[in-house]
Amino acid sequence: MSNIPDIASKDGGALSMGGPGPRHVAIIMDGNGRWAQARGRPRLFGHHAGAKRIREVVEACPKLGIEYLTIFAFSTENWKRTQTEVAGLMSLFRRYISKEMTALATKNVRVRFIGDRLKLDEKLVKLMDNLEVETEGNDGTHLTVALNYGGRDEVARATKRLARDVAEGQLNPEDVNEETLPRYLDTHVLPDPDLVIRTSGEARISNFLLWQSAYAEYEFIDTLWPDFTAAELGRLCRKFGRRDRRFGKVKT
Ligand code: IPE
Ligand code: IPE
Ligand code: MG
Repeated sequence: MSNIPDIASKDGGALSMGGPGPRHVAIIMDGNGRWAQARGRPRLFGHHAGAKRIREVVEACPKLGIEYLTIFAFSTENWKRTQTEVAGLMSLFRRYISKEMTALATKNVRVRFIGDRLKLDEKLVKLMDNLEVETEGNDGTHLTVALNYGGRDEVARATKRLARDVAEGQLNPEDVNEETLPRYLDTHVLPDPDLVIRTSGEARISNFLLWQSAYAEYEFIDTLWPDFTAAELGRLCRKFGRRDRRFGKVKT
């Protein structure tokens, strides 16, 4: 029997068969622009609606057995959007972090950010740093927000740090392997994602968690991010529980 409760139905999920749910879920929150467009509204309206969905999803995690939730908020490629959209998103992030995120902090959520902070506005970085410190002692859901994050950029920055350690004699090149390299990634304290969800019907990963998702299960769903619910997350977790993860082995 599934140990993942069905938070949308009255049977508590007892009818859905399956194994354990995902410990780490990563979400590419896509489709805000199209959601707004469909309503004849500017793209930023969709981003605001999208941001409002995050709380319900975070709050559903303990019930679903999800210990780590990582959400893609802004990619290293998203700077290519119009100045209006980028500025609007940055202002949304500032507002969101100071208001909504502080509310999450009191709910035992531990917040972390991944991505390159050097290219972000100083005021925003300060808010990010503060929230990380503020929630450091929380031992509930680990929420990681990918902001100015790109998988390739992350690997390049990691390699730079690794090369420095080699040059300074802190690391022997012979010791560079699958265990040591990820210690240099932004995600070094996180387990690899078990399930990666992308909303909005696009079947691509757009530079998200390239190294870490090597063995993740993927779900590409049509729902636009502002329409995503905890019930849908529950459904995807139960589906995950029914999957056979072989990691290269043959089923015995
Ligand atoms: C995802 O929604 C949010 C960000 C990338 C910041 P989009 O803005 O990409 O929405 P669509 O894909 O244009 O609908
Ligand atoms: C990926 O979505 C980035 C985020 C959700 C933050 P995009 O909308 O930027 O991805 P592409 O451009 O469609 O690949
Ligand atoms: Mg998009």
